[in-house]
Amino acid sequence: MGHFMEVSHLHKIYGDKVVLNKVDFTLEEGEFLSVLGPSGCGKTTLLKLLIGIEQQTSGTIKLNGEDISKLDSSKRHMGIVFQNYALFPNMTVLQNVEYALKFQDQYKKEAKKIALQVLEQVGLKEHINKRIDQLSGGQQQRIAIARTLALKPAVILFDEPLSALDAANRLTMRKEIKQIQKQYNSTIIYITHDQEEAFTMSDRIMVMSEGHIEQIDTPINIYNHPQNDFVKEFVVDHLQTKLNDLKKCMVSIDENEI
Ligand SMILES: Nc1ncnc2c1ncn2[C@@H]1O[C@H](COP(=O)(O)OP(=O)(O)OP(=O)(O)O)[C@@H](O)[C@H]1O
Ligand SMILES: [Mg+2]
Repeated sequence: MGHFMEVSHLHKIYGDKVVLNKVDFTLEEGEFLSVLGPSGCGKTTLLKLLIGIEQQTSGTIKLNGEDISKLDSSKRHMGIVFQNYALFPNMTVLQNVEYALKFQDQYKKEAKKIALQVLEQVGLKEHINKRIDQLSGGQQQRIAIARTLALKPAVILFDEPLSALDAANRLTMRKEIKQIQKQYNSTIIYITHDQEEAFTMSDRIMVMSEGHIEQIDTPINIYNHPQNDFVKEFVVDHLQTKLNDLKKCMVSIDENEI
């Protein structure tokens, strides 16, 4: 049996800079894979190649056994949710979700019905006639997700979707994205540079630096068996420092209460 998605030797050069260096990985249906790595390591470039906004220098992408690496973006069955949501500010919530559906022959007739259904499922039913600027950041994020879900993509790509939100909203949205994933059994590739986010949400994590994969494994395996110094420092040490800070903070709360 082949894998649901199979990426082989994916390579991208901008000018004379190798931005992605022969990246290989596979993804199973229903899996939540996070891509974790420092700024500039090639995370967004990877997503752009997968969805076909940019063309790779070499390498292939297979989905369900079919080589999609030369296909037009609209034929790849992938959806993307950006950090800045990319919503239309002058349209209502409903119009935003309906918009993309109206350009798809198979959904055109039922665009409104599908949009209403998805908006109800993500808890935005009472906001459908509001303009985008009348909604909170978290609600806007949910609309962006609803709009992508409505098109029933085989794979949903997220590019740091929560980085514009405050800490409280970020925690809520983490849970909601996981809930939506379960509900739709979505296959997700989720970019983040937040170690905690990757650890709390993912089935597997791909740790990247400088255009290549340092390690790809389950959170627990990465934590217990970092493959090299980069993974140890960027992931394990970082999480341990956070945990220790938290403990110190709890101790000082304790002491103050006495
Ligand atoms: N269109 C482009 N032309 C030239 N270089 C580019 C282009 N797009 C990206 N790069 C370079 O490729 C490298 C990887 O960029 P990319 O946006 O994929 O990083 P990233 O991991 O998403 O970073 P961040 O966490 O800051 O979003 C960077 O050095 C960037 O400057
Ligand atoms: Mg990026």
